[in-house]
Amino acid sequence: MSTYHYPIKKPLESILIFGASAHIGGPLARHVTDNAPDVRLRLATSSKAKAEKLKIDFPKAEVVVADYYDLPSMRAATKGMEGVFLVSPDFLDEHIAMAVFRRAVTDNGVVRHVIRILADPPGVTLHHVPKEMHAFGGGTAIQNLIAKDFLEKTDLPITYLNSAGWYFDNYKTWLAAPILQKRTLTMSAPRRVLYFDPNELGEVAARIFLSDDARHIGGSYQCDNGQDLTSFEEAAALMSEIFGVKIAYDGSDEGFMREIGEPARAYWSNVGAFANGQDPAEYFLAYWRFEQANENAWRRTDFAGRILGRTPRSLRQWLTENRDFFLKGMGV
Ligand SMILES: NC(=O)c1ccc[n+]([C@@H]2O[C@H](COP(=O)([O-])OP(=O)(O)OC[C@H]3O[C@@H](n4cnc5c(N)ncnc54)[C@H](OP(=O)(O)O)[C@@H]3O)[C@@H](O)[C@H]2O)c1
Repeated sequence: MSTYHYPIKKPLESILIFGASAHIGGPLARHVTDNAPDVRLRLATSSKAKAEKLKIDFPKAEVVVADYYDLPSMRAATKGMEGVFLVSPDFLDEHIAMAVFRRAVTDNGVVRHVIRILADPPGVTLHHVPKEMHAFGGGTAIQNLIAKDFLEKTDLPITYLNSAGWYFDNYKTWLAAPILQKRTLTMSAPRRVLYFDPNELGEVAARIFLSDDARHIGGSYQCDNGQDLTSFEEAAALMSEIFGVKIAYDGSDEGFMREIGEPARAYWSNVGAFANGQDPAEYFLAYWRFEQANENAWRRTDFAGRILGRTPRSLRQWLTENRDFFLKGMGV
């Protein structure tokens, strides 16, 4: 008989998931639905249109429309929920959003486990983030640090999952155009980055919610696939090998602005501060420089693999699984 003991968390009876219609919250909801059908799921979206789709995708779950900025909707969404998953879009005002969240769950008084996604280079503090990033008034470089700083001053029972790397699906969305049309991976500020599959990040969150290990509460974990710490030049070489088509690499600022500037503006223009006139393309050029400056802080970890109980998906695997998307898009 095992003599290994750890403090036990009573199983959660209910979980509320923000961002449930997206690539992290969706897989989290799916894992809970499939593996813990007795847990009461409430799925939140800030969009009425997405709520209709969520009802179709998760017919047994309750679906609510809630906005991080709106206290009445947050009170209603969090009411009676023991677990809460928080993920923010870029440029959310975290001062407001986290204060509203804290007010709502404090009033409801039943929350027992919160999981919050972060995205910060290990060891970086707000003080360490350069002025040019602060000047944008939001964005990944500062907003998760602001949220964590706020939440740590509360006594909420939180696990932080720091996904300080790249989600694979960037290559299928706003970074896809030059790969498909010009057979060139275009990304300025050459550097190595970590990778992770957002589906697996959602599954990690689900497994932590469903775990009986109470020590996760208060935990702060780095989440990456433990395998890839890869330069974009290496990623382009990997694409060439897997697609059987030469994919070049362009690491210049000019290339990024020319090829990604407009798609980035189109994709991000409705998000938070970008809607107030910030230029997403300029923001990302600066953010890549910030990532480049912190390149030495990145490290592969085995945390996600241990929680998943398997080796997470690698960039090679993901590119192989998605080969047809790229070949079709290139007209091959
Ligand atoms: N892209 C990457 O490679 C990468 C890598 C690592 C980390 N990150 C970071 O990871 C974090 C998540 O990014 P993501 O783009 O992947 O997020 P995401 O999964 O799309 O989740 C954010 C969700 O927040 C919801 N939302 C937006 N405004 C809201 C509001 N006012 N009230 C309530 N919910 C709201 C949206 O869902 P609804 O529209 O349904 O409300 C959205 O799906 C960000 O901090 C990002 O910087 C990104």
